[in-house]
Amino acid sequence: VDAYTLSHLHPTERANSQALQDTLTASTQAGLPSHALSPAQGKFIALHCRTMRVTHVLEVGTLGGYSAIWMASMNPQLTVTTVECNKTHAEIARANIERAGLADRIEVIEGFGVDVLVRLRGEVQAGSRPHFGFVFIDADKANNWRYFQLSMDMIISNSVICVDNVVRNGQLVDWSDSNPSVLGSREVVEKAGREPRVDSVLVQTVGEKGYDGWLWAVIS
Ligand code: DHB
Ligand code: MG
Repeated sequence: VDAYTLSHLHPTERANSQALQDTLTASTQAGLPSHALSPAQGKFIALHCRTMRVTHVLEVGTLGGYSAIWMASMNPQLTVTTVECNKTHAEIARANIERAGLADRIEVIEGFGVDVLVRLRGEVQAGSRPHFGFVFIDADKANNWRYFQLSMDMIISNSVICVDNVVRNGQLVDWSDSNPSVLGSREVVEKAGREPRVDSVLVQTVGEKGYDGWLWAVIS
């Protein structure tokens, strides 16, 4: 279904298609895990940014830069600040972003997510960095809630924080499963539900990346 629909809705002649395909090819060749978004998911968040006229995105978990390239390539006014703790991933991402011609609008910050977000929060609160209009959390799942909390302090009112990979092929509700990624996914669902500033929903997804889902949270 992804292949059929994308062949009509985002055919390979589109301006950003080659850059996106090159990004996946280079990421695979470099041995990165195949955890990038599907093309349909990448386009969805890019369209969300267009709809909301987002100008500054925060992403936690760059991997090869695929999602950042989707958002920036479809939105000429958009800048992405993306955080990656793995040195190799950050290097591959920078090369992919450079090849895509987006190095002036995608900033890859190498470091541990919590440390970097604490620093970014200081800059936002000091007024030296703008608030973000969309946050995409797609990093180590055990820290989902910490990233979410820090992001709440840096987001424009009535904007979205999206947390990737919360359903995990249904492991979310397999109560015998207590691996740290599953626990981090449950934690963000349960704590988002109790947080007064958050109005959110879990959207299950199926497609070429299998069965998963994301938490879609509007922060007031
Ligand atoms: C995993 C991480 C991801 O970001 C993803 O999209 C899929 C799987 C993982 O760690 O298992
Ligand atoms: Mg992911």
